Amino acid sequence: MDFKKQVVDALVKVLPDEITEEQVTKLIEKPKTSDLGDYAFPTFILAKSLHKAPNMIAEDLVGKIETTGFEKVVNTGAYINFFLDKKAFSNSVLNEILNDKENYGNADEGKGRNVPIDMSSPNIAKPMSMGHLRSTVIGNSIAKIIAKLNYTPVKINHLGDWGTQFGKLIVGYKMWGSVEEVEADPINNLLKYYVRFHKEAEEKPELDDEARAWFKKMEDGDKEALALWSWFKELSLKEFQTIYNRLDVQFDHFTGESFYNDKMDAIVDTLEEKGLLEESRGAEIVDLSQYDLSPALIKKTDGATLYITRDLAAAKYRKDTFDFVKSLYVVGSEQAEHFTKLKIVLKKMGYDWADDIVYIPFGLITTGGKKLSTRKGNVILLDNVLNDAVDLAKKQIEEKNPDLKDKDAVAEAVGVGAVVFHDLKNDRRDSFDFNLEEVVRFEGETGPYVQYTNARALSILRKANVDYSDTKDLAIADDQAWDTIKMLQDFPEVVKRAAKEYEPSVVAKYVLKLAKSFNQYYAHSRILADDEGLKARLALVKSVSTVLQMSLALLGVKAPEEM
Ligand code: ARG
Repeated sequence: MDFKKQVVDALVKVLPDEITEEQVTKLIEKPKTSDLGDYAFPTFILAKSLHKAPNMIAEDLVGKIETTGFEKVVNTGAYINFFLDKKAFSNSVLNEILNDKENYGNADEGKGRNVPIDMSSPNIAKPMSMGHLRSTVIGNSIAKIIAKLNYTPVKINHLGDWGTQFGKLIVGYKMWGSVEEVEADPINNLLKYYVRFHKEAEEKPELDDEARAWFKKMEDGDKEALALWSWFKELSLKEFQTIYNRLDVQFDHFTGESFYNDKMDAIVDTLEEKGLLEESRGAEIVDLSQYDLSPALIKKTDGATLYITRDLAAAKYRKDTFDFVKSLYVVGSEQAEHFTKLKIVLKKMGYDWADDIVYIPFGLITTGGKKLSTRKGNVILLDNVLNDAVDLAKKQIEEKNPDLKDKDAVAEAVGVGAVVFHDLKNDRRDSFDFNLEEVVRFEGETGPYVQYTNARALSILRKANVDYSDTKDLAIADDQAWDTIKMLQDFPEVVKRAAKEYEPSVVAKYVLKLAKSFNQYYAHSRILADDEGLKARLALVKSVSTVLQMSLALLGVKAPEEM
């Protein structure tokens, strides 16, 4: 049942004709606290036409409003406050959730619409950074959120697997490396050669020429060069995969930068045809000075293509292949200028769909206020962070519930979930501090707290062991339960807002509030009391756990049944 509509209808009947239903719908607010009702209508916009003070208008109107279906309707200052009929409301909401189960909150707006999501995208032979981790979990969550609205997300890992750095890597490997060493610890050792290359090239600039020559060989399809490159790539991907497995993140495509090698000529041709290419000191560029931006560098002096050239080809390929409604890029905020340029150049090429490209930036993770360095760190560092989180989770489980079965699996779900939840609970643009002890606490604004609340709800249901599945009357008039019930009804709207803003934190913040509200209810009521309200209360507990689980799932966090 649409309770907001009920309020709108009641208002429209008594308001002057020139005020439309649409206007009323927009004006209605949800008061912050329940003592001001469940919906409120501000009368300010009527003051001019009625030549009256808003609080007078509110007083007049309240007398005219039909109150059937509401608990009461009152005026407070310039507002009219509507108090919903708790029984009708709870009965309707709980029945809807029990019926729809994990489909509760689903919508059809995305039906038949593809949305590629460029996410994770680490660089081959380099450590996966905390930034890549953030991109992975944010992208994954956005994919799940929009899928609930029936969009088809296409998760693309745009690996950094092409570029002049591979020439340097080959030179370094050939000079200082060995198969055994690389196989033993691929990313760390490849990084070591790369760093050493840079150091030595300062004294011996001829190394740079060598590196350029090797990259040229790669671009020309030289067998040896490509064999080394694909070996580096395979080993790196294997390491990355350990993290993806732990996070339970899958990709639809691992089409990295190299995938666009044969698709860039067409882009360069179009740029040329449209008269957008200019020569500048031997290189080919698109001038962007009219936007106060440095030029987009399309081809280097030696003909090598660049990061943005590959992104232009990728953007076009995604439009041609997926005919997207939106094309998302979850990439750290330090690349803002790159994406601004990308969109401008595509627009200049005549591609209006460039407007559907959405850059989704995010901030940094810090420790003690400092940027978390992944110089020494890498996948192993990330893996260690997850291991430490899991250890902490295990410790708490040992204390709270020593007899729990599958302790290790639960600790993994709680530890990894804690890190992911922490990453998603802040507005994504904010930088935030990472303190493991805080992150894995079972109380406070943490993932484990939400998981624990769900496990508690499930244990209540097990204990009760009462069948309420075909109970039709699920009315609850209890004031203690009211906030929780209203929050349950908010869920579909929360999902829509999170999707619209590409903001998983909307879901994370919501689920924290819901968990808190349910725990308060639990502390203040005797849920399992054997009276006529028992079945409705159990239905409420069930509904809460359904929505907690769905919310966690939307964030990519598991929900253990017991912990
Ligand atoms: N590999 C890049 C980096 O680590 C991120 C790629 C982002 N995606 C893109 N289409 N440019 O900085």
